[in-house]
Amino acid sequence: MDAPTYDNLFPHRHLLGIVDLSAVEIGFLLDVSDSYVDLNRGADKKQTKLRGRTVINLFFENSTRTRTSFELAGKRLSADVINMSIATSSIKKGETMVDTSMTLNAMHPDVLVVRHPDSGAVKLLSEKVNGAVINAGDGSHEHPTQALLDALTVRRRCGRIQGLSVAICGDVLHSRVARSNIHLLNKMGARVRLVAPPTLLPTNVERLGVEVFHDMRTGLVDCDIVMMLRLQTERMRGTFVPSTREYFHFFGLDSEKLAVAKPNALVMHPGPMNRGVEIDSVLADDITHSAILDQVELGVAVRMACLDVLTDNLRAKVANEES
Ligand code: NCD
Repeated sequence: MDAPTYDNLFPHRHLLGIVDLSAVEIGFLLDVSDSYVDLNRGADKKQTKLRGRTVINLFFENSTRTRTSFELAGKRLSADVINMSIATSSIKKGETMVDTSMTLNAMHPDVLVVRHPDSGAVKLLSEKVNGAVINAGDGSHEHPTQALLDALTVRRRCGRIQGLSVAICGDVLHSRVARSNIHLLNKMGARVRLVAPPTLLPTNVERLGVEVFHDMRTGLVDCDIVMMLRLQTERMRGTFVPSTREYFHFFGLDSEKLAVAKPNALVMHPGPMNRGVEIDSVLADDITHSAILDQVELGVAVRMACLDVLTDNLRAKVANEES
């Protein structure tokens, strides 16, 4: 009998954004991710599900967690994983992103994991290649695997997502993490609040189904989860906050501001964090609240699930075309 395929449960070739997924599809990816958590904690971390498959990490922007966890995820499933270093690639000789991806496509990768500074660039690339494409962050648009690993962290810590109050705080304007999380949390039945100065919020953001606050002391009242965001200065054109000291005073999370949230509220941060800017250093390390390292751990399991499900869909497609 053929191995079971996932494509009825996840009928997508690419993973470009949370906005494209249903609550059932998100729940399914989280269930598959859960099944990889124990494997990652064991001594033998290798499975053969992706043997013979090729995964290329194509990162046009810096990354620590996302790139290494995709690399580990692919290797733990026995794929051949290539990390393209843009600094030493022909992009530096003037080749366009599309030409680079067509060149890589000619080598038959099964999955391209792509990060790019421009919103929409990863979707454009996905239209030019034969394999599956995973968006590892495009500009300030989406970062779907980050939202999935955040959701897995919440689901494992709180037992559910539905009905929770989640405050996303800080530089929402430039954050693809915020956008993907707003979509995911709304689809899964959580209540989303944004807490930020007006300069760091997109216009008409309420249309995304969120409640807006400009003061941490009111925005965090009774919330279950506090997600902090970095000031993404690399995306800023001009000045958005008077100074980082003043920003920390009003919007940096410390135990005093957290005191109005639920007593066991979870503190999250996608990383990289700037201690003393958006989060107090002691709180970031306080394991009674901070789930920041859980997020990193679970990121590998989520990326294994995404590689597993999307390559399985490619296999099912080839099998259908052959029959
Ligand atoms: C985030 C990103 O790149 O969007 N980091 C990450 O992937 N963990 C958030 C950030 O850079 O601040």
